[in-house]
Amino acid sequence: MQAPPSPRQTPTLQIHAVRKDFGDRHALEALSMTIAPGEVYALLGPNGAGKTTTLNLILGFLTPESGHIEVADVRVDRDPLGARAKIAYLPETVMLHPTLSAIENLSYFALLGGRRLDEAQARALLSEAGLQDEAHARRAAGFSKGMRQKVGLAIALAKNAQLLLLDEPTSGLDASAANDLSQGVRAASRRGIAVLMATHDLYRVKDVAHRLGILRAGRLLTERHTAELSAAQIESLYLELLAVDGQAA
Ligand SMILES: Nc1ncnc2c1ncn2[C@@H]1O[C@H](COP(=O)(O)OP(=O)(O)OP(=O)(O)O)[C@@H](O)[C@H]1O
Ligand SMILES: [Mg+2]
Repeated sequence: MQAPPSPRQTPTLQIHAVRKDFGDRHALEALSMTIAPGEVYALLGPNGAGKTTTLNLILGFLTPESGHIEVADVRVDRDPLGARAKIAYLPETVMLHPTLSAIENLSYFALLGGRRLDEAQARALLSEAGLQDEAHARRAAGFSKGMRQKVGLAIALAKNAQLLLLDEPTSGLDASAANDLSQGVRAASRRGIAVLMATHDLYRVKDVAHRLGILRAGRLLTERHTAELSAAQIESLYLELLAVDGQAA
């Protein structure tokens, strides 16, 4: 994606030398990374690399062995609720109330977060997240995974968060729904929201992210600006790095 934000801005997310162990397994080893306001960062890596662990540490659901994390200048270890208030998280399965419409679900979840939306505001957020107008007033019971994710993204946007976390958002989506999701992520970026997306979807990375990081066995092997690489180069970089690293291991 073009026009990455200026690196001079104070980063929205700062991860400082974070280590996380599960028993004698090192899930993350001194992970450091930053994401600027409006920047979309794709975190790539094979199964077990530590992507979900990274998201759980940012959310304060896990505590690191050492190092620390700041979200919009709030330290997660010192003020976990304050940090979480600045984060919107799109889980892999978005749970909606089946008997409520998209508008009603969005309004309900926004109200839980302390924000009252009128119908026009709810419709505007759903459109921004890519949900077609015709579905706004329909009951969520019949929604596809892609539609549920769009409502989830609208809920995330309604929160006025500064950091959006997505864990494999395009897994199980068809090509058109995955493209819609990319549009929703770009909408968040335009609002100045920093986005961290754990993904296996190498082909969409160039289109949706400004930067990528490749994680393997808890170590960040490289970080690159996607503008410098073609989609094919991103795929070969990924495969080469994992193959080389695999031989060394
Ligand atoms: N709660 C836990 N208890 C013990 N080990 C865990 C726990 N959560 C993660 N791990 C281990 O930490 C490592 C990193 O796992 P993580 O789920 O972060 O990987 P991931 O990159 O998200 O993988 P995937 O692509 O499969 O989702 C793995 O070795 C995993 O087995
Ligand atoms: Mg995971």
